[in-house]
Amino acid sequence: MATALCIQERYQGLVPSLQLEIYADRYTPRTTSDVAVGLWQPYLSDRGNPEEMLWNKETFDHLLGQLGLPEAKEMGLFLISGYNLFKQPVPDPSWKNIVLGFRTLTPEELELFPGYSYGWFHTALLLECRSYLPWLTARLMQRGVKFFHKKVESFQEVSGDGVDVVINCTGVRAGELQPDPELQPGRGQVIRVLAPWVKHFIITHDMESGLYNSPYVIPGNEFTVLGGINQHGNWSEENSAQDHKTIWESCCQLLPALQNAEIVLEWSGLRPARPRVRLERETLRHGHFQGEVIHNYGHGGFGITSHWGCAMAAAGILETASLRISSLRIQSLNLPACVVADF
Ligand code: BEZ
Repeated sequence: MATALCIQERYQGLVPSLQLEIYADRYTPRTTSDVAVGLWQPYLSDRGNPEEMLWNKETFDHLLGQLGLPEAKEMGLFLISGYNLFKQPVPDPSWKNIVLGFRTLTPEELELFPGYSYGWFHTALLLECRSYLPWLTARLMQRGVKFFHKKVESFQEVSGDGVDVVINCTGVRAGELQPDPELQPGRGQVIRVLAPWVKHFIITHDMESGLYNSPYVIPGNEFTVLGGINQHGNWSEENSAQDHKTIWESCCQLLPALQNAEIVLEWSGLRPARPRVRLERETLRHGHFQGEVIHNYGHGGFGITSHWGCAMAAAGILETASLRISSLRIQSLNLPACVVADF
């Protein structure tokens, strides 16, 4: 939906006949994003892709600019500070100059977290999708974008009828439209609790178990999210009792006051994990079918972190491809979605 909004904002006025359509099989509040934390935090390394760092930075700077607007509350956007904890010293992350006030922890701070000997403190942004998705929906509807509730099975299905460009912002099931062996689920499970006394995020990193596979506690506007599960290749969307135990015990060990927190929701979802985001244009030919597709998927656990930069890049591809656009459609299998441009 951010891609749709970005394109809408860029082309409104320039292309008066522009029409956008969004196709998704699930909308807010029934998406994994509605339950995900929404913390701006990239992976610890830039994964060898400087473009991803740029998209992350563009997203942070864009959101920082929105923070001063009255809409920030309705968007679910606010500043948040907190800790990243390690069991041994690690190099500073490449994003240390993007966030605010990045510093390493003092010995006094480390005493608060037994078992951890190194860490960082900084201020970042939290953008809660349980607010942001309804806000995006309302904004797009106001601008005349049409929404369709439907599982799209092929690019052809949304490409006919004078539609010229599909923007493929599908989630973990992008491979059902076009095989992509690089795309894998990074299964997560979270427990949402009522713990209004938690004011800082605490993210631990166990280098052996992999990213976001060790406990984290991240407070939101109303609820606090406990997590720390990232299972590569696991397609199960069922809650697991074993994972519940792991999350609960490890988070309570990190922050013993959580033992008294009321559990309000448990959720399992699939991060669309890929070695790098797929953001590129492709001309598809299938028999008589020929269609232009701009892919924008594979954002793993950093969808919120990179979303606006990726949206701008997708809008930029439309521009550089010199497409004459008069109508656009958007579609999604699991997460928003896919845009089709007509000329
Ligand atoms: C995750 O679980 O994927 C995640 C948690 C915190 C920040 C970013 C991602």
